[in-house]
Amino acid sequence: MKQDTSADIVVDLLRAAWVIEAGRACVYRRWAEVEDRFHASAARADKAAALVATTLSEHGRAPDQHLAEPHAAWITSLLGPHPSDTPFAEIFIARLGDWVEGHAGAFLAEGPDELKAIGEEERSSLQFPSSLPAAPPFEPVGTPPAEPPGDVLFRFGILGDLHIGSPLGATMAQAAIAELNRSGAELVVQLGDITDHGDKEEFELAVEVLGELNMPLATMMGNHDVFSYKEERLSGRDYYPASFGREADGVLLEHKGFRFAVLDSAEPLGSPFAPFSLVTGQFLGGRGGAVVRGSLTVPQHELLAEVAAPSRPPAFVFLHHPPQPFTSFPPIIFGLRDEDSGRLHAVCDSGNVWGVFAGHTHRNKRSRTFGRVPVHEVGIPRDFPYGYALVDVTARGYAYRFFQLSDEGLLRDAYKSASLIHRRYATGSDADRAFVWTA
Ligand SMILES: [Fe+2]
Ligand SMILES: [Fe+2]
Repeated sequence: MKQDTSADIVVDLLRAAWVIEAGRACVYRRWAEVEDRFHASAARADKAAALVATTLSEHGRAPDQHLAEPHAAWITSLLGPHPSDTPFAEIFIARLGDWVEGHAGAFLAEGPDELKAIGEEERSSLQFPSSLPAAPPFEPVGTPPAEPPGDVLFRFGILGDLHIGSPLGATMAQAAIAELNRSGAELVVQLGDITDHGDKEEFELAVEVLGELNMPLATMMGNHDVFSYKEERLSGRDYYPASFGREADGVLLEHKGFRFAVLDSAEPLGSPFAPFSLVTGQFLGGRGGAVVRGSLTVPQHELLAEVAAPSRPPAFVFLHHPPQPFTSFPPIIFGLRDEDSGRLHAVCDSGNVWGVFAGHTHRNKRSRTFGRVPVHEVGIPRDFPYGYALVDVTARGYAYRFFQLSDEGLLRDAYKSASLIHRRYATGSDADRAFVWTA
């Protein structure tokens, strides 16, 4: 397992593990102010963080101290200030620890035993409810108003991750496509994870489903498109060009005097891990697909240099992975590699970029801004709150709006499996679902 994994991925994995344990420790300490027993939980998380830090230092790396509090804030945004606020809060935060144990354990200098012992102690302190709580009731997610700043030159659509091949993947994609066809969008950019398992049949179905769009479409490779589970190989660099007519090294498109830089940030590298379930805290069967981290190839850096060159037209940038510092779950390792995030920031500093849009996280969220340039994560059709985005471009800026699908029957069915924690994760604030930007 270790030999397959490049050293910098291992370091990012260990950095992620440290941030999770340090973030958990922060949350437990807050909980302990109300309930004494959480002092022991905080001590366990501190101990796990210290174990990870020892190995990190052997890689010449200090822990990312400044990311612990943002990660704790993310956990709290899902669970509320106290564990009794939310069903499964305690189990959820323990599962984050299970993720660390499962992923970082094998790479620790002292081996996985000590981390495992800490995990076992934590699991034995938990009380598991006998049944899952019912999902909250149906409640539509609205689109806040956002007036375009001037006369609209054109509208484009953003279609997030599709995961065609997963239950509901194709159905929800078709519903979003039907609405995009009626929206007046002149082109659509899809943000990767077109397929769920990277298999040939899923690519074929995706081409058929996306073929229903009645305007030009740009797609990109997501991490789920890189590795075929059926064939157990990195087949995406064959199937993607065969399906979508270009190599996965980014493409620069133009529309009405604006540029669309479409990047392929998925790394063509197999993951040493099987997929992990945060519900059970265990690995699922089968091989692990591609690594979840993102990076940019040399041709994509060249493409970005062209975007940033003096007196070039305004551009929108699209990629699968949100840039660093990525502090949600799993922190760091789920985002775009540091080096490439820095490059993207520098490109935004050129003044030519009007917005950066990312997929991968399945949520509505303003990740951050690079200078004045919004970096925005776009929710997806298949997962709560089930939708797509429209952008109205003017000479002075644009209005961005996320729309929930309008087929209430489809939504009511899907809502049944959307837990409270998931809804808090993905809905986003009003500003995450609609905003106006001016140049
Ligand atoms: Fe995805
Ligand atoms: Fe992804």
